Amino acid sequence: MGFEFREVTAEDVEAVRHIWSIVYRRGEPIEPGEEVPRADRLSFVGFLDGRPGAAFSIMPMKVTRGDGTLSCAGVASVAVLPEARNARLGSAFMEWSLGDLRARGYETAALYAYRDSFYRRFGYEVTGRRWQIRCPPDRLPDLEPTLPVRHVTPEEAHLLDRPYRAFARARSGLFLREQSDWINRFGKRPPMIYAAGDPVEAYAWVSMEGSFWDDLPVGEFVWSTPAGYETMLATLRALDINRGALIWHEPSDGPFLLSHMDQGVRVCLDRHTMFRALEVPNALRRLVPESSGEFRIRVDDSHLPANVGPWQVRFGLDGVDVSPAKEADLELGIAAFSQALMGEPSLEVLLHAGKVASHDEAATRAARALLSPRPTILMDYF
Ligand SMILES: CC(C)(COP(=O)(O)OP(=O)(O)OC[C@H]1O[C@@H](n2cnc3c(N)ncnc32)[C@H](O)[C@@H]1OP(=O)(O)O)[C@@H](O)C(=O)NCCC(=O)NCCS
Repeated sequence: MGFEFREVTAEDVEAVRHIWSIVYRRGEPIEPGEEVPRADRLSFVGFLDGRPGAAFSIMPMKVTRGDGTLSCAGVASVAVLPEARNARLGSAFMEWSLGDLRARGYETAALYAYRDSFYRRFGYEVTGRRWQIRCPPDRLPDLEPTLPVRHVTPEEAHLLDRPYRAFARARSGLFLREQSDWINRFGKRPPMIYAAGDPVEAYAWVSMEGSFWDDLPVGEFVWSTPAGYETMLATLRALDINRGALIWHEPSDGPFLLSHMDQGVRVCLDRHTMFRALEVPNALRRLVPESSGEFRIRVDDSHLPANVGPWQVRFGLDGVDVSPAKEADLELGIAAFSQALMGEPSLEVLLHAGKVASHDEAATRAARALLSPRPTILMDYF
């Protein structure tokens, strides 16, 4: 079998439109005026014995790691034509993409898998905890709204930027959105957006589709202060007055699980994200240390041998220095490294779970300080 992969060129456009139409749109043609592939994405095509049979695209992102920022390729719309499946085309395409995206400067990649086991083969691992909370109206806490609440239009998305950035910097994995990204995030039908505080300390949006007693899903709920959270949850409770359960997402350090959990509330992990480090030394350099120390680390990565090292990592308040080393104090696979890089599960948890081999206690303490725990959640879908 002969495989060939490349970025989509003008001559590939019809082929990738056909592939995505078959795999994602029940074969219905993509309208001539519809921008597919999208100009704000990078798209790729794969050939099996000279015939186009596969496609995927990436959403270029900058994501947070606390105060640090990582470049991240959001891998989307992975598709292999039915007649080309089970010939390793999809696997070879994903393997090829790792080196190609790394060469383009992406330090990490992220995706929502149809089956995690497929992407796990290429070094991706479930990272972060997106908790979906489904709370019946009579279990919603009766919180005091202390901030003014107002309705915000999608064009006023810039008002949401401040709490979103604070929320994103306190955690990991969040996409640093620009104005056009907000409009994409709201979706095709503009939702009702509520903001608490002036300047805004929290916001939430809901579509209000459905009728009396139907569950009420929240599109996104973000806060930067406790008063913002409490005022916004009180607002959502008021919106839910003639509806069923209120459904929303929180990261693992969200206030609901910390202080408001009650019988009858259902919590589950929902739409989990897989991350994969593509450029180990540069990703480490993007971290913003809160202390100083040094360690040597070896990262097993059969797909990207340039990541293996071992690496000597020296860090302080002025940054992180990474250079080749001969031996390692810690050894772990690329999947565990990707998790520890983002911070959830943290290096500490991975050590407890036996996912990391430690040969030196002091060096391991230093690594735990740099790769500190961080609730991780990506709130954009692609
Ligand atoms: C998923 C997809 C891209 C795989 O492409 P492919 O070219 O058929 O994949 P490959 O031939 O390289 O690999 C197939 C392997 O994946 C396994 N696999 C296929 N479908 C699977 C599934 N639903 N669950 C688990 N494993 C699966 C096969 O058993 C095979 O394993 P093997 O290598 O041990 O034999 C393709 O099936 C597809 O386009 N599916 C529909 C769209 C989709 O779901 N995309 C993913 C969105 S994230």
